[in-house]
Amino acid sequence: MPHLETILAHAGCVPDPATGAVVSPLHLATTFERAPDGSYPHGYLYSRHGNPTRHQLETTLAAAEGGTACATFSSGLAASVAVLQSLQAGDHVILADDVYYGVRVLVTEQFARWGLEASIVDLTNLEALKSALRPKTRLVWAETPSNPLLKITDLQAAAEVVQETGARLLVDSTWAPPLLQRPLDLGADLVLHSLTKYLAGHSDVLGGALVARADDAFFASIRALQAQAGAVLDPFGAWLTMRGMRTLAARLRIQCENARLLATFLAGHPHVARVHYPGLASHAGHEIAARQMRDFGGMLSFEVNGTEAEAMAVAARVQVFRRATSLGGTESLIEHRASIEPPDSLTPRTLLRVSVGLEHPKDLVADLEQALRK
Ligand SMILES: Cc1ncc(COP(=O)(O)O)c(C=O)c1O
Repeated sequence: MPHLETILAHAGCVPDPATGAVVSPLHLATTFERAPDGSYPHGYLYSRHGNPTRHQLETTLAAAEGGTACATFSSGLAASVAVLQSLQAGDHVILADDVYYGVRVLVTEQFARWGLEASIVDLTNLEALKSALRPKTRLVWAETPSNPLLKITDLQAAAEVVQETGARLLVDSTWAPPLLQRPLDLGADLVLHSLTKYLAGHSDVLGGALVARADDAFFASIRALQAQAGAVLDPFGAWLTMRGMRTLAARLRIQCENARLLATFLAGHPHVARVHYPGLASHAGHEIAARQMRDFGGMLSFEVNGTEAEAMAVAARVQVFRRATSLGGTESLIEHRASIEPPDSLTPRTLLRVSVGLEHPKDLVADLEQALRK
């Protein structure tokens, strides 16, 4: 098996037998011709069921995560819905307390109506996880680093606890794509990605993926939902995601380095009360992150020393950063997180979340320096 960097650099680059083109063609066809005997000689019938470009992405993502199967969806949340719909009414799910708020809303507002029970638990505390487990717990939903507090869950330890009960451990690894972290290697059963972020990497694709350790009955249900419910990733989105994956290693190297520099700068700034970045030795999850991640990622958040209005004012003054939601693109983004999350969010009102891009680090530091002036 080639190294991960090699798998990624060749994503979507199987030479086309018809033309010799080194970049695989984009298959936009929605339907595929039957042979005279009625069979589908290339295995494709209709694009909602399967599409060659999407299939190529799924195979590459499964290899990159060290899994056996992958299904891609029209967004990270559509992938999340397929997992939740594969559970039964009355099943119990444990969600990390700092899970992406969209997933929490989905579970508590939508799936509660269909009889899914949920507990919100601090998964950095293994004792809390153990005591939240019930006989009907079927799924534990972790996210590490988490959004937006960058809490770190010890995946190996959590997987051991979850496996003993027969439940599944799902890890939303959107903030730590395969080069930074491979949850399946640490014992997780499923990995979820919002492809919208680092994997596609250019803020121009909306997509989601699930990679499974075992191609079992649960994953068969997810795949069936992909075809039956139809929230599939479109072929152009799949093609663009592979194009993005080809440069993931290079992008992440710069993003991690820039984030490290920014976190250090912010940690020493008098108008910053707290920096959340697992690469800082002072971060509560630093040692676990150093063990389970190859590097600490391009995401960080910080709390402004002052009021919510002052935090908003800092976000309003940036000129190199863009003031917008989302993450993982080439451009640096800053966002006042609590104002887009529901009122019961745990996010401090003075917190700004930063997605670090590929700009020169001196431009980023200078921009935050001028934005943080009182
Ligand atoms: C950690 C995490 N998971 C899932 C999602 C949802 O992904 P999408 O926006 O592609 O539906 C997001 C979106 O911000 C995210 O940050």
